Amino acid sequence: MLEIREQLHGENKTQKDFDSVKVHVPGDKSITQRVLILAALASGESRLRGLLHGGDVEATAQALRLLGVALPRIPSDGSELCITGAGSDGLKSPLQDLDLGNSGTGARLLLGVLAGSQIEATLVGDVSLQSRPMRRVCNPLRAMGARLEHLCEEGCIPIRVDRTGPLRSIDWMSPVPSAQVKSSILLAGLVGRTKVVVREARQSRDHTERLFTEIGAPISIRNIPSGHQVELNNPPDIVAPLDFSVPGDVSSAAFVIAFAALGGAGVSVTIDNVSLNRTRTGFLDVFSRMGIDLTIKETGSGNTCEPRGLITASPSELHATVVDAEEIPDVIDELPIIAVMGACSEGRTTIRGAGELRLKESDRIHSLVHNLQTLGVEVVEHEDGLEIEGTTRPLKGRIRAFGDHRIAMAFGVLAKLKRTHIEIDDPTLSDISFPGFWGLLDRLTQAT
Ligand code: S3P
Repeated sequence: MLEIREQLHGENKTQKDFDSVKVHVPGDKSITQRVLILAALASGESRLRGLLHGGDVEATAQALRLLGVALPRIPSDGSELCITGAGSDGLKSPLQDLDLGNSGTGARLLLGVLAGSQIEATLVGDVSLQSRPMRRVCNPLRAMGARLEHLCEEGCIPIRVDRTGPLRSIDWMSPVPSAQVKSSILLAGLVGRTKVVVREARQSRDHTERLFTEIGAPISIRNIPSGHQVELNNPPDIVAPLDFSVPGDVSSAAFVIAFAALGGAGVSVTIDNVSLNRTRTGFLDVFSRMGIDLTIKETGSGNTCEPRGLITASPSELHATVVDAEEIPDVIDELPIIAVMGACSEGRTTIRGAGELRLKESDRIHSLVHNLQTLGVEVVEHEDGLEIEGTTRPLKGRIRAFGDHRIAMAFGVLAKLKRTHIEIDDPTLSDISFPGFWGLLDRLTQAT
């Protein structure tokens, strides 16, 4: 793991600190989704700042409104939003379907909430969400006693949730390390007030566990011989409101870091107030192995449970690396940009053990292979990954984003370099997780 330095004050600054352009990225998508759901379940008023205002978050927010939560419009400038929660028993059966759009996190987390509530609701989503596997969440929720009916295809959305009796406690070994599965079960335990234990072979991102501590539902976490375990014991009757500032999304920062490393800004770029949660920053190790010159400084957690700080990235010579199964849960959302960086590195970059990539907003292995080949890059496709041969040839072509925001942005980083001729079929996809993405890269391009 890269060294995370303490916040340095003026006298300790390096020349790079003074030469760099400072930017912010929008709020973390995973944390924003969770704080909105927990604020909705709280008894009392939560005060939330720095929320992401993106497509996925808006879908979750709208679903919460339909469930009877008085949730005001999410500010687009990160300013404070006050939410009066409905209480963990206060959600109402919605009069229309809950449309989670493209949001796998929103759908899976809300399934847990609905399973624990004594209400009826139907979850629907866009074409991409309808093809994403839901069995991994429905199986444990059903084992807890939830009544879930797949309305079209078994294991897929649309799903109808019916009233259930009290939920049973569960001890669940998740077949895949997945924060969405883990969080769904934890939320069912919280709302259904029953003990839950979730085990996974490798720890997935831990935002839910950290936030549960903030709302008065402490979770015990430990390493076990088969991996990692979280346990929610004695869930509280009342969910405490949150007073929370969401840090910038480090997965969004990955695109900016890549752009800076490829020389897109001509100078170093510093991303301020970005999440440094160690279950999310694995890609910084990968980038560092690829030769990216990075400086990371923790500035504390801003009196909240999530660490945050600054990341500075400088123009760098890149070389290939290997990313294997051990690392995958920590870098899952950054694999598209790692693969794209592989195309600009010396040598052959290999990503294996990443079969989960096929189950994201698009089949990301296919999306990456298709588009890298379009650009003339030599790629080998595997069922669980890909190998990318770096090239110095000029890259040009039209990218198919396959409706996937991270594919659009990963190739968008290349498209904005002066030395390429790349077009993205649907640039607006970035609004799902990174509103302002194109404008930020444009500003960085003009930085020198
Ligand atoms: C997320 C968990 C990850 C990640 C997704 C967001 C979350 O999915 O890929 O973008 O907020 O819990 P999995 O749980 O399927 O690994």
